[in-house]
Amino acid sequence: MKINSAVFIKSAFERSHWVDDRLPEIAFLGRSNVGKSSLINSLLIRRGLARTSNTPGRTQSINFFLINESYYFADLPGYGYARVSKSMRSDWGKMAEEYLAIREQLVLCVQLIDSRHPPSTLDIQLNEWLEFNHKPHLIVATKSDKISKNELQRSLSSAKKVLPGADIIGFSAQTGRGRDEVWRELSVAINKYQTSG
Ligand code: GTP
Ligand code: MG
Repeated sequence: MKINSAVFIKSAFERSHWVDDRLPEIAFLGRSNVGKSSLINSLLIRRGLARTSNTPGRTQSINFFLINESYYFADLPGYGYARVSKSMRSDWGKMAEEYLAIREQLVLCVQLIDSRHPPSTLDIQLNEWLEFNHKPHLIVATKSDKISKNELQRSLSSAKKVLPGADIIGFSAQTGRGRDEVWRELSVAINKYQTSG
């Protein structure tokens, strides 16, 4: 995908601030610190467009980015950080949940997991929720540069067993591994929405 323009539009802390011009949208979901903002920057080849941080829980709002003036990326708050013992609902905030439930122009959910660790209970719950609600989704296993090729293969195949129903792509923001594969999936989802009018 050729990126002619990528613009940060806004951080929304409540529903009335979500962008609403009906362009197709792709959401990036996953636990705090898993690499959502880094994936967005890598896809867009824009260092620092989405703020990244070593401090988990940095992104608290839904951050909207307009790409090529024709679709949005939505960087969602990370889950599983603030109150580890509580349910995903209280951990993650009502807004992200509401967003997933009602956002009509959502063409693809990109769920990120950490390739170094087995998917967490919250990762599994989110995947089950997406499956159950028929939300098109894709799983991206991040930070693959931190493990060997063999470890990555093992990690991807065991993740597939607990996260059924979606493709899993190994990815590294550092090396660019998996970037083209992720773009292929995003392009298919965007084109489908545009041709269906
Ligand atoms: P929140 O906004 O807090 O939910 O985090 P996030 O999911 O947006 O994570 P972010 O992109 O800010 O990355 C968290 C940390 O992991 C940063 O220090 C990144 O540099 C690092 N990181 C992200 N992706 C990769 C990767 O593919 N490889 C390596 N080595 N580090 C990564
Ligand atoms: Mg972030």
